[in-house]
Parts: sequence; structure tokens; C-alpha cells
Amino acid sequence: MSKEVLVTGGLGFIGSHTVVEMFSNGYIPIIVDNLSNSSEEVLYGIKKITGKVPTFYNLDVNNKTALSNVFFQHKIQAVIHFAAYKAVGESVQKPLMYYRNNVGGLITLLEVMQENNCHNIVFSSSCTVYGQPTNLPVDESSPVAIPASPYGNTKKICEEILYDNHAFNVVSLRYFNPIGAHPSSMIGELPLGIPNNLVPYITQTAIGLREKLTVYGSDYNTPDGTCIRDYLHVCDLADAHILALERINSIGFGEKEGHFEVYNLGTGNGFSVKEVIDTFISSTGVNLNFTYGPRREGDVEKVWANPSKANKILGWKTKRNLTEMLVSAWEWQKKMNSK
Ligand code: WQD
Repeated sequence: MSKEVLVTGGLGFIGSHTVVEMFSNGYIPIIVDNLSNSSEEVLYGIKKITGKVPTFYNLDVNNKTALSNVFFQHKIQAVIHFAAYKAVGESVQKPLMYYRNNVGGLITLLEVMQENNCHNIVFSSSCTVYGQPTNLPVDESSPVAIPASPYGNTKKICEEILYDNHAFNVVSLRYFNPIGAHPSSMIGELPLGIPNNLVPYITQTAIGLREKLTVYGSDYNTPDGTCIRDYLHVCDLADAHILALERINSIGFGEKEGHFEVYNLGTGNGFSVKEVIDTFISSTGVNLNFTYGPRREGDVEKVWANPSKANKILGWKTKRNLTEMLVSAWEWQKKMNSK
């Protein structure tokens, strides 16, 4: 049985950390990435950690001919599908770009998979499918509401497409907020341009690349008025993808098609933006220039996971705490700036 697994968006933040763990677990990652939110340099970061340079094709998953050629060149047993735009705020400004890329890209991928008799997919989904949950912590039985952003809606629609297509074995992973970097500082979050996400904006402000951080909203119904999220270490999240591949394996690669499972991947703890700022300052000793600004459209007020289903069935549990997440992000930022 081939151990070749296609990793779309494999040079991205979560993708690259997952590729590192795939090598450690005997898989052969075949990366396709259009470099819209990553860089080819990441290949060398992966090599420095694993000693191996993964096979990489610079292509867009929306390019059906190019994607089909990859399946022709390799015996792909499963796909981990990361490739998508993922900024909540940006998706409010550019909804059509998000629907075209995120939903269109999945449809193209599934067509090529079917044409090549590949049925197994681990899908990168998101807690944003829940919108603003009424009950917290949120578990997988919580209603998938009208997401607060086009980004979240693309993930909801993609899960529905996967669910309706009984030709695939699907494990859909609903990420909460992945942050941090590999302990080697050889790979990490590499936002091109102005970061949309909180933690890279914090580290870029701390190192002097940005003048100050703006906290989007201080009048939410939370203890300190700022939004609450469930932040998890990207290395913990990478581990979950290996367990998801093993889960599909336990169902039978391609033997029993039409399987669909979802898992919430979070720590089960929520931290506010202000608590993240305070933890960053106390754990790194670096001061941070920040100010309070208006709310960001598309943001939900508070969300954190009930990860017990992933704990029980995948055997997955987060190991790193918020301090370790933020210190690893800071070490990575300093490494990037030392180049
Ligand atoms: C977190 C909090 C902002 C920037 C992310 C991913 C998304 C999904 C869920 C996987 C919010 C606040 C941010 C800034 C701020 N993950 N913030 N100032 O929006 O929860 O979504 O996790 O699918 O893909 O994008 O993360 O880091 O953008 O925001 O105050 O400069 O930080 O308002 O409350 P978000 P984020």
C-alpha cells in the first residue's frame, strides 16, 4: 500500500508543520501549493528539521489538468486538503474570491480524486462553521449556524459537499485558533504582507515591524471586553492530522466508502485578546504597543472547544499551553528577522 499522501497547501502554516510530522510517521507527503500564502523557502525549513525535501509541485488546486498530472505521477492513497484562503476579516471584504477559491478548489480536487480512484480525505475545516455558539464549550453536535463570515461559510459549504458525496471517507477537522511555531524555529507562521491574525501581528509589533497592535473591540460581553478564542499550538494540531489519517486507515483505505466524521480541535480553554497580550508580555519580557479600536466585521464574540470527541476517538489531546505557544511564535519571529 502506497504511503504517498497528497498535501494541498502543504507549504502553509499548518500544512508545513503537518508535513514534518508525516515524515516522522512513515508517510510520503506530496505537496501541491500555489505559494499565495507561503514561500518555497519553507521546503528548506522542513529539510532542516527532517533531513528530507518533500516532493513539491507549484500549482493551484483549481488547475484540474495540473492536479490530475500529480495523481498520474504518484499513487496517492489519501489527501490532506489545507489549500484555502483563511482570513476571516479579509473574507468579508472579498467574498467572491473566497467562494471561488475555497469551494471551487475543493470541487476540482474531489473530481480529480474520483477520476483517480482515491477516496480518502482529511479536510481542514474551522470552528467558524459554528458562528457564535449559544452553548460553550462547543461540541460537534452544536448546530452549524450561519457563520459570521464568508470564510466560515466556505468551510460549512465544503463540509456539506463532502457529506453529500458518499464516494469518500472523510475526516473533517474543525480547527480553533492555531498559533505558535515548531520548537526548532525552522518553520512557523509566514503571513505575506500585513498579518490578518492576532499572534503574527503581536510578534511583528514586538519586533518593531509594525508600529502598534490594534485590539479589535473592547466592548464585548466578556470579562475584559475583548474577544475570546481557543488557541492551540500548531504542533498539537499537526499531530491531529496524523491521527486522522490513522482513523481513515482504521475504516479501511478505500474499502468502505461514504464515511464522514467531524472533530473539534482545541484545548477546551478560552483566552481573551487582552489575556493573550498579557501572557505574551509576561512570558517573553517584551513590551507591546497596543491600542483599542472598533470591532472587526465577521468576528464572533467568544468560542472555545469541547475536544472530548477527538480525545476519545482520535486519541488526540493538546500538550502545549498558551505560554509555550506564544514563546515559540516569538522565537520564530526573531529567527525570521535574523536572516
Ligand atoms: C483572533 C482575535 C480578532 C488581529 C482564525 C483563523 C481562521 C480559523 C479560526 C482555522 C479576534 C483579534 C486579530 C488583530 C485583533 N482557524 N485581533 N487584532 O479571526 O479567530 O480566525 O481562527 O480555520 O482560519 O483566521 O483569528 O487571529 O484573526 O483573531 O484584535 O490585529 O484577535 O478580532 O478577536 P480568528 P484572528
